[in-house]
Amino acid sequence: MTETVADTASDARYRVAVIGGTGPQGKGLGYRFALGGHDIVLGSRAAEKAEAVADEVREKIAGTTGAGPVGTVGGASNADAVAQCDVVLLAVPYDGHDELVASLASGGALAGKTVISCVNPLAFDKRGAHGRIINNGEGSAAESAQELAPEATVVGAFHNVSAVGLWEEPGFLDEDVIVVGDVVEAKQVAMALAASVTGRVGIDGGKLRLARQLEPFTAVLISINRKYKVHSGLRITGLGEH
Ligand SMILES: NC(=O)c1ccc[n+]([C@@H]2O[C@H](COP(=O)([O-])OP(=O)(O)OC[C@H]3O[C@@H](n4cnc5c(N)ncnc54)[C@H](OP(=O)(O)O)[C@@H]3O)[C@@H](O)[C@H]2O)c1
Repeated sequence: MTETVADTASDARYRVAVIGGTGPQGKGLGYRFALGGHDIVLGSRAAEKAEAVADEVREKIAGTTGAGPVGTVGGASNADAVAQCDVVLLAVPYDGHDELVASLASGGALAGKTVISCVNPLAFDKRGAHGRIINNGEGSAAESAQELAPEATVVGAFHNVSAVGLWEEPGFLDEDVIVVGDVVEAKQVAMALAASVTGRVGIDGGKLRLARQLEPFTAVLISINRKYKVHSGLRITGLGEH
């Protein structure tokens, strides 16, 4: 399918390891970041699985018209992907997340890196999706990642962006990416990457602990999606051009 996409709003170029890059969210964000000119290494517990998905992403990019200079797309084991990049996106399920982050951080492998978490700790029952209580309500997946990788700087972003939209919508998504974190420079990385997805830099949503609100909010979007048969997203009004 031929698609169109306009130039992104930021000149910064990053090299991003996508942990869990074989899943729909990591693959979709990796595709968008590469279209935005960033170099991507999709990570997996099995390197050959990541290489196969990297082939799929490169093929998708080749069929996308109107893209500016695109980034490279590779595949590797999660640990090798981290070693090759200064920015790391966590796109894995919450189950197993803590063990994975601890293993990635071992030996200081995440030291000095910007780690972006889009992990949503959700549960599903007969009434639909809902947010899980993390650390007795005083935590979030992003804060857990920061505790497990203290030498890295963790920010939360891309929680509310649908994987289906990332892969299937032509052009930029008509929504905003809210970025939370305690270090402005790290937030700016995620805000710049967001421009590959929405055509606008992301919005600084405040401190990392507000991931406690962003992560479970996705349950509301899932509920809206089911009721209206759409792929809904968030748009923040009142900011003017940002
Ligand atoms: N899907 C969405 O629309 C969406 C939207 C916003 C945010 N998110 C969040 O993004 C994250 C990824 O979502 P997804 O739908 O792409 O998830 P997914 O398909 O269930 O998992 C993504 C990848 O994570 C790896 N993985 C699975 N279990 C693991 C474990 N125990 N330890 C280490 N790696 C494991 C797998 O890769 P390998 O087998 O190749 O290692 C898998 O392909 C989730 O936290 C989700 O809440 C998703």
